[in-house]
Formats: sequence, C-alpha cells, structure tokens
Amino acid sequence: VETSLPSTAVVAYSYEGGVLRLLDQRLLPHEETILECTSALETAEAIRTLAVRGAPLLGVVAAYGLCVEARRVAARSAGDLDVALQVAAERLASTRPTAVNLSAALDRMRHVALATAGGGAEERVRLLEAEAARIAEEDRAACGRIGRLGAAWLRERIRVPKPTVLTHCNTGALATAGIGTALGILRVLAAEGPLAILADETRPFLQGARLTAWELLKDGLAVTLLPDVAAASLIARGRVHAVVVGADRIAANGDVANKVGTYPLALAAHAHGVPFVVAAPLTTLDPWMPDGAAVPIEERDGAEVLRLPLSGGGHTALAPAGASALYPAFDVTPSALVNAIVTERGISEAPHAEGLARLLAAGAPR
Ligand code: MRU
Repeated sequence: VETSLPSTAVVAYSYEGGVLRLLDQRLLPHEETILECTSALETAEAIRTLAVRGAPLLGVVAAYGLCVEARRVAARSAGDLDVALQVAAERLASTRPTAVNLSAALDRMRHVALATAGGGAEERVRLLEAEAARIAEEDRAACGRIGRLGAAWLRERIRVPKPTVLTHCNTGALATAGIGTALGILRVLAAEGPLAILADETRPFLQGARLTAWELLKDGLAVTLLPDVAAASLIARGRVHAVVVGADRIAANGDVANKVGTYPLALAAHAHGVPFVVAAPLTTLDPWMPDGAAVPIEERDGAEVLRLPLSGGGHTALAPAGASALYPAFDVTPSALVNAIVTERGISEAPHAEGLARLLAAGAPR
C-alpha cells in the first residue's frame, strides 16, 4: 500500500478567465505579491525577469500566456486570433533558451491552434485553455511519480538512520505544477523518515536561499542552507549522502543542462563516490539534441551578479563601480557523472543513451 503523497501549501500560479496570476518570485521571501498577466507580452516579461521560473513551470506558464492572449484578442477582433497566437508564441519562446519545457509546451498549444483553425473563437480559446490545464495536470502527476520513484531508489542505496541530501537551485512547488522534481523526491523522503535537507544558496538569483528555503519552511520542513562554494569540501568530508538536482534540458545521451553550479556538484560527487541523481519529467528530455554541447546556455546580464536587490526596492552594489561580471546561467553535466535520471516513467541508469531511449519507447506509465 502506497502512503499518500506529501502536499504543499505553495500556490505558484493560478489561471481564470483570461487572467494569469503568478506569485512574484523576485520578491520572496520578503513579500508574497501576486502579479497579474492579461497579455502574452506581460507573461513574457514575467518570465524574462524571473518573476516566474523553473523548467516545468515555465512550460505551464507559457501555455497560459497563450491563453490570456487568446482571450484578450478574441474579445476584440476574433479574426486576428491566428496571427496574434503566432506572434505570442514566438515572443514567449524567445524569453529563455535553455529549458526545453518552454518550447515543448508552446508546440503543443500551437498544435491545438492549428487543429482548430476556422472554428469559432470562443470554442478555440476554450480548447487552448483545456490543453494548458492538461499540460499542468500532467506535470503535477509526473512530480508525484518522480517523488515516489526517486525516494525508493535513494532509500535502497543510503542505509543511514538520517541521510543528508544536498540539492541545488529550486526544483519544488515554485518550479513545477506539483510538489517538484528533485525537491519532490526530498519531500517524499522527509515524509517517510528522518532526513536532513541541505540547499545550496544558488548565487546570484539565490533560488536556494530565497525560494527553496521559503517553500520548505512554508510546508513545515527543515532546511539548512549552504554557500555554493562549501559543497565540494562537505562532500569530500563524507557529510553528504546524495546530491539530487533538477534539469532544464536532458540530451539524448544523458548530458544534463541545469542551473550553473550543478556540474561542480557532479564532479565532487563522482570524485567521492556519492550518488548524483537528476530528476525531471519527460518534457525536459530533448531527444533531438544528441549531446549537451549543442544545448543553448542562457547568458544573463552581468549586472545581476554585481548587485543585490533590496527588499524595499532598489539595489546594493556587491562590487566596485567599473567591475564587470559574467553570468552563464546554466551548465552541462556530462552523462557519465550522472548515476540516475528519475522520470515519471522510470529511472535511467548509465549508460543513459540506452536508458533514456528505453524510457521513451516504453509509452504511457502503467
Ligand atoms: O533560472 P531558473 O531558476 O529557471 O533555473 C531553474 C533550474 O535550473 C532548475 O533546476 C530546473 O529548471 C528544474 S526545476 C524543476
């Protein structure tokens, strides 16, 4: 008998009647402010400025971004719907290049738009909304299965009374439509028994410090923050039993693009024989990308490294005026460093080219 899945009090988004409401992640943990998007342009801006982020949630939000645009245009001039949706999809797709979930969700929505061309505007908008809801529901369900499968895999391999698991960035209810991917696994493990969750701060946007810590505490789970730079030495000293992270795009050979700072964790885990686990729904798999070399890596403005936003607005400088900074926002972990890739359909163990191909061929989960 399966125990029930842990639930979450976090509401990252909602959609109703042409209005997309997003919990503004730029303001967490200080403020819980809702951002209302009623056009694709506003939605794209929210994505670009990281008010909303996390690969699976980007797919869901982009899909609803097309819905708000469809409602907006249909109310004014239904005849313009197809051109408006095309422009909106391109605008949304261009916001962030690395997470493949974004373009995959938009492709699904475009498919519905094409298949319903010539139909009544109201009916078409309803069908687009139904598809966006399906994308969200599928992601919610995928998180649950990933949580269960990943927790079982780790429990079998870590035989200490209270394991310490390190995670990076935010992969939870603020990054998906469900309990999360990597964080979903940690939520299930924490529900099953004693667990210490270590969260990398994740410089410079501080997804770990601001978001992962906020959502875990909101759900009554303890979390210990770790400066990113301390992870490798802690792993070397045997203080970490597993590293569990998410992904923004997984290539056919199992190379994993994820938040910058993931690759150094994989190197350290490999060097010290600590399991390194990647958790992601199949929507994060890009079977057309043979390996990680071709994955587009988002370069963000160095200004985001040089200054820290203040809770009351404005910024404080972290470096002298005149200093410049580089900000590659993602890195690629070679497949050989990844012990397991946990998806909703099962787990791939090395060699991942075969493991992932098998999962893709397996069809819908039983
Ligand atoms: O820049 P972000 O915050 O969108 O990056 C998010 C990550 O790198 C996550 O690890 C990834 O999207 C998986 S979220 C389930």
